[in-house]
Amino acid sequence: MVLQAPVVRRVRREGLTCVAPAQLAFLRRSVRRIDTLKTPGTIVECGVGLGGAAIILATSMNEDRTFHGYDAFGPFSPQGENGQADLHDRVGASLKEFGVAVEATRVTLHQGRFEDTLHPTAPIALAHIDADSCEPVGLCLERIWPHLSLGGLIVVDGYQEYDDCREAVEGFLATAERVSPYRREPSAVLEKY
Ligand SMILES: C[S@@+](CC[C@H](N)C(=O)[O-])C[C@H]1O[C@@H](n2cnc3c(N)ncnc32)[C@H](O)[C@@H]1O
Repeated sequence: MVLQAPVVRRVRREGLTCVAPAQLAFLRRSVRRIDTLKTPGTIVECGVGLGGAAIILATSMNEDRTFHGYDAFGPFSPQGENGQADLHDRVGASLKEFGVAVEATRVTLHQGRFEDTLHPTAPIALAHIDADSCEPVGLCLERIWPHLSLGGLIVVDGYQEYDDCREAVEGFLATAERVSPYRREPSAVLEKY
């Protein structure tokens, strides 16, 4: 049995993520990789949900990295349909409990549809796309790719489980340049070279 890092065990135990432990461990390794290789840029997550993977990313990154999480925190979210929970604040509180303060400089949560909020301008070193359906996955890939640093990674969750997610990734791979599919299972990982 593979030993899970305490932070991975805790986000799973507290029900803050639907991402599998092995995938969370892969995200931690990806952060270490960009830090070791000094790949310039911020860390982005599209599809924060209840914040589990965001916590893994933000607690693993070096002091000089920044994290930007994008989510509707509303109608699409696992807990948002009844409108009872203010998910944006709740995720901010969860991050804080793990020692990550959400403030304007290091960690920012962008509330709204990706279509409206995802307009990166600065370099990106690592992106985690966890949006499930085809349309947002394609949009996120198109908007993030031009800003991804050389050696940067985009990890697309749901590649194995969802046909439309796989279609979006394969459609992108067919046209994008300087992309190397680093792996396809269980998530798709695209590297820029
Ligand atoms: C599978 S959940 C994310 C899970 C999360 N990464 C975790 O650690 O468990 C997918 C999220 O994508 C968000 N989402 C899907 N389509 C969206 C869109 N077009 N704009 C903004 N958020 C969207 C939903 O609100 C939902 O919270």
